[in-house]
Amino acid sequence: MSYDLIVIGSGPGGYVCAIRAAQLGLKVAVVEKRKTFGGTCLNIGCIPSKALLYASEMFEEAGHGMAALGIKLPAPELDMPAMMKHKQDTVDANVNGVAFLLKKHKVETFTGHGSIGGAGVVNVTAQDGTVTALETKNIVIATGSDVAKLRNSKGETITIDETTIVSSTGALTLQKVPGHLVVVGAGVIGLELGSVWLRLGAKVTVVEYLDRILPGMDGEVAKTFQRLLEKQGFSFKLAAKVTDVNPSESGGASVSFEPVAGGASQSLGADIVLIATGRVPFTEGLGLETAGVALERGRVVIDGHFATNVAGIYAIGDVVRGPMLAHKAEDEGVALAEIIAGQHGHVNYDAIPGVVYTQPEVASVGKTEEELKSAGIAYKVGKFNFTANGRARAMRHTDGFVKILADATTDRVLGAHIIGFGAGDMIHEIVVLMEFGGSSEDLARTCHAHPTLSEAVKEAAMAVEKRQIHA
Ligand code: NAI
Repeated sequence: MSYDLIVIGSGPGGYVCAIRAAQLGLKVAVVEKRKTFGGTCLNIGCIPSKALLYASEMFEEAGHGMAALGIKLPAPELDMPAMMKHKQDTVDANVNGVAFLLKKHKVETFTGHGSIGGAGVVNVTAQDGTVTALETKNIVIATGSDVAKLRNSKGETITIDETTIVSSTGALTLQKVPGHLVVVGAGVIGLELGSVWLRLGAKVTVVEYLDRILPGMDGEVAKTFQRLLEKQGFSFKLAAKVTDVNPSESGGASVSFEPVAGGASQSLGADIVLIATGRVPFTEGLGLETAGVALERGRVVIDGHFATNVAGIYAIGDVVRGPMLAHKAEDEGVALAEIIAGQHGHVNYDAIPGVVYTQPEVASVGKTEEELKSAGIAYKVGKFNFTANGRARAMRHTDGFVKILADATTDRVLGAHIIGFGAGDMIHEIVVLMEFGGSSEDLARTCHAHPTLSEAVKEAAMAVEKRQIHA
């Protein structure tokens, strides 16, 4: 049996690429080592974390948010097995959905470890060791990423046992609410999963190397976000480098850290330690060296059309350059399938949104103020606070703001940053605007329904020219 295309890995990059290629008439197979499709995102990442984020947000609302709306409730009781069942049901529905879609599009699937056996050959090693060799014209590496190892000050890898010292995977399957959760790293994973357990009753301390949270996000947004998280109960130890994490004999673990600027080492006792210091591309056992596929700092090197240095081998998603985001991988999957089918697939890397699914949400697209300053680009800022938005007041969700950054000369929107309830959905009108090369005036003159939170987006666009009405 010979294929036009074999995709190794069935995460959002891989399965989307396979389906799009099949739509375009190619004969496609997917190789997946997990029992279920969907990769990290559906099995142990985006989807289960969102199930727990939503459930814990409702728990928090039921406990604290209802009385002010005139709804009196007894103190809510946590039913952890039921909450975990909700999470698992969500995962199952999503992974089964992918299996259904692959079948519907007649994509053949193989369970086992995929590796490149030479030009046009993919070997699938099943769990019992049997190897099946598949022939194909094109190979797509969509193997995603894995948890980055954290090393102690002696250079030894800190062991993640997934029960006391956990990665995001273990943090999604805790059996009970920890008394004290120490999170290493104030990135997206640390703040999302820290939020889950804080809402369910844990004390949460985040130790972060940098002097700010959410590296890469707009500085003003990050500052506001930190203040709001502290109000919720988060404690931050910033500019602090974690130098070791050790299990304690009495249970739990201790986290040692020292000021980045130098100074005495300190330690914190924790019931659970979540290591959330980044992810690295996953290329182990893929046969890339034998096939001669070039890597740079662990990432597969590709050209502007996702082609590696070896003819017929392509790569997309977390395993290549760019942000490690499911939707970026999906768009690359579509573009690559179209290119292989002889069309002109394309991804606009200037308009990829990023969302942190906390409460409030943080969403951004395009350049931050810091990036524009360092690139020497003159820009104008339009900002609008949710405190001045009628719908936000009616919902008691007045924290946060919308900020739009537009080119000072052309008015083209270069970036937008929203912190507030529903930010992750609101950002998309600005993504579309940027995709069409729109200006702040285009947005300011677009009618927005009243009363909606999205009116704050329009007002921020109007504020670029200082003509906002409600502030
Ligand atoms: P991250 O790269 O976002 O943050 C890691 C943080 O750990 C950084 O702030 C870094 O300075 C800090 N750090 C590193 N070493 C440290 C040390 N020794 N001591 C103290 N702090 C240290 O990584 P994260 O949160 O693990 O996420 C991994 C990837 O997954 C990211 O690319 C992220 O975009 C993606 N992701 C995206 C989500 C979303 O879009 N909502 C959700 C979850 C993950």
